[in-house]
Amino acid sequence: MYPVSFELEGKNCIVIGAGKISCRRTAALLNAGAQVTVISPEKCPEEMAGKNISYIQKCYDKSDLKGCFLVIAATNDSNLNEQIVADSKFLGIPVSSVTKCTDNQPDMKIPSVSSGNGITVAVSTDGKSPALAAELSREINNYMERYNGLCELQQNIREELRSKNLTSGERYEIMRAVSSEAMRALYYIGGNKPYLEMAEKICSQEIVHANRKKAILVISFGTSYENTREKTIGAVENAVRGAFPEADVYRAFTSGMIIRKMKNEGIYTDTVAEALAKLSLMGYTEVYCQPTHVMPGEEYDDLCRDASAFSKAFSVLKTGRPLLTDTEDFSALISALEPELQSDSETAVVFMGHGTEHPSNTVYPALNYHFYQRGFRNVMIGTVEGYPEFDDIIRQLEKNKYKKVILFPLMVAAGDHVQNDMAGDNRDSWKSVLEAKGFDVEVRLKGLGEYPAVQKLYVSHLSEIFNGN
Ligand code: CO
Repeated sequence: MYPVSFELEGKNCIVIGAGKISCRRTAALLNAGAQVTVISPEKCPEEMAGKNISYIQKCYDKSDLKGCFLVIAATNDSNLNEQIVADSKFLGIPVSSVTKCTDNQPDMKIPSVSSGNGITVAVSTDGKSPALAAELSREINNYMERYNGLCELQQNIREELRSKNLTSGERYEIMRAVSSEAMRALYYIGGNKPYLEMAEKICSQEIVHANRKKAILVISFGTSYENTREKTIGAVENAVRGAFPEADVYRAFTSGMIIRKMKNEGIYTDTVAEALAKLSLMGYTEVYCQPTHVMPGEEYDDLCRDASAFSKAFSVLKTGRPLLTDTEDFSALISALEPELQSDSETAVVFMGHGTEHPSNTVYPALNYHFYQRGFRNVMIGTVEGYPEFDDIIRQLEKNKYKKVILFPLMVAAGDHVQNDMAGDNRDSWKSVLEAKGFDVEVRLKGLGEYPAVQKLYVSHLSEIFNGN
């Protein structure tokens, strides 16, 4: 078998028979733009009525085949079908039969076809199981939907390349790179814009080949506050650099809002998909992703999903755990924070966590319980957007008659939430509200990422995947 596609626009095609398969074949031929004649002694079936075909109600005759480009023998009589096959072959017209032939084999087998998005998929089981072919072609087509529109983009890139002074070999290499697993994943996850930007980099040969095989991608939510960014996220990245000298360390952020904001200030940070596409194009084969997210929440789910789209672009692609996932993580975090914590009966320590509607919000009360067990009865954890709420914290502070409150961020970077919602001078910041209620308030603007012990915790999560244990 040698699969080809026929250009049928305006060509005379003939279908003999008017059963179910005949109707399907006729519809497919019409779809391809063919002029279709259907011949059958039976009345025109309902499915064909009103269609742009010539329906001739009569018995088949060899002379019907004259001047026709393609024949489909689709009667329910296998002997007649075989006769049609023999007649067509005699006239040199490609023919296919819907029933098995014994002496005269048709020279065409019609695969199961699905098309859309500019991509046509034909699946053939060589006649062994048309049903399986149909199911598989549907499944592949569903998968292909992720590349909707990609054909057109690539067509444009090809045209643009033709206008450049490149050899055909160079053009082919570029087209291969823009079609690679990593670039397709970038298109699927990021859409047109990042795809075209990366394609532009490939075309202008901005992507430099890496000397090493291993890369570590440190993935953070991100912060647009420059003063805390390098002290926290940058410090974690540096700790990772120090701990894994055999790998190159890169940065990605998960917050599109922060990436856009920084871009306006002239600072470019990759999304997870952009970073992974770039690392693959640079030639890295092993990539270890370490999120600096506090918990396995929505952002973590999303980054795992984005990374998994690139699983075939690398021989190794692993993602480490966020800060708080295991019981040991809670103890380790408390040990990291311990030197900073005051414990006298009049002072409360209140942490501000982000909070989420995601089920992982339970890490906040869980961490609070660990503090309690470790003897820190004066520690409370509240959140901006989850449970416990700030009101819950206020009630506890009042009930326990604390005089002083020290506010700490339970966030990696001391960004917007910390500087405004927690420590801002605006009337509804935690600091202002507590002060208005008569508490003596102290704020610590130290993101978790600043603590060397927290950096170490990320390094240890990374070594779990890096060293394969
Ligand atoms: Co927020």
